[in-house]
Amino acid sequence: MPGDPAPPIRLLAPGPGPRPEPLGPEGLEESYAHRAGELRANLVVSLDGAVELDGRSGALGGAADRELLATLRALADVVLVGAGTARSEGYGPVWVGRERMQRRERRGQAPLPTLAVVTRSAELDPQGRLFVERRPDQPAPPRPVVVTCLGAPAERRRRLEDVAEVLVAGDAEVDLPKAVADLRGRTEAGGRILTEGGPRLLGDLVGAGLLDELCLTHSPVIAGPGRVRLTDGWSQPGTGDHPELTLEAVHSGGGQLFARYRLVARAPRR
Ligand SMILES: NC(=O)c1ccc[n+]([C@@H]2O[C@H](COP(=O)([O-])OP(=O)(O)OC[C@H]3O[C@@H](n4cnc5c(N)ncnc54)[C@H](OP(=O)(O)O)[C@@H]3O)[C@@H](O)[C@H]2O)c1
Repeated sequence: MPGDPAPPIRLLAPGPGPRPEPLGPEGLEESYAHRAGELRANLVVSLDGAVELDGRSGALGGAADRELLATLRALADVVLVGAGTARSEGYGPVWVGRERMQRRERRGQAPLPTLAVVTRSAELDPQGRLFVERRPDQPAPPRPVVVTCLGAPAERRRRLEDVAEVLVAGDAEVDLPKAVADLRGRTEAGGRILTEGGPRLLGDLVGAGLLDELCLTHSPVIAGPGRVRLTDGWSQPGTGDHPELTLEAVHSGGGQLFARYRLVARAPRR
């Protein structure tokens, strides 16, 4: 409000004096504790808000971003992605390192999170990596979940039933609130859902008022025009849909800034 006193502004990094000790894998998990029953998103963006360079997110990330992603995956019960992302990024099952897996077990979580893919078309290859890949040093992954709707061709849905749990939520379109509630109900532990996008899915989750937390990696690169932006695919934004977030924490490593935001005002449910 005009006239309100300005909030205090602090220099966080690099900051004067000694730098805080690096957190390490366990400290990072504690710092990013995932609240039970919440839906968190993690994406990497360029300084001008692009989520891809030449169609992939990898060039925006780096070793520190990959470490954070591995941490957030290890904290989740379900990893939720749009089919576009699963196809363009060549998704396989979500693998977790041994020590992280032991900490999952201590928290009462399954050894590996369940991968769930949202698709209106059900156009996924049943022989694709995400359904068939296995690793000798890892337990068998939970059956992936294909989240779709009655509008998807029945034959495609039937073929996917051989390799996945097919969750039909909605008639002509995927009913995301229903799908998210169902996914939560499937986890023995706390129903912690991590979405890794892409922009269409993220936009629709925001629009449906389902997002609780946004973990954004700000990559120090300017992508330029013509790139896909963070919520570009958001299919039905309405007037006044400007959810507000508050900054909860800031981490930094490898020249990247990791900002953790929490939703304070959601888009109205339609
Ligand atoms: N920077 C990052 O962190 C990051 C993260 C993820 C992706 N990306 C990038 O983003 C780009 C992909 O964008 P995208 O728009 O294709 O992402 P996306 O949201 O993963 O994919 C869109 C597709 O996913 C399915 N989908 C998503 N939301 C849906 C909904 N509410 N209902 C039904 N189906 C839904 C549909 O699949 P069907 O066509 O099968 O119906 C849709 O065509 C790629 O370049 C990727 O590299 C970047």
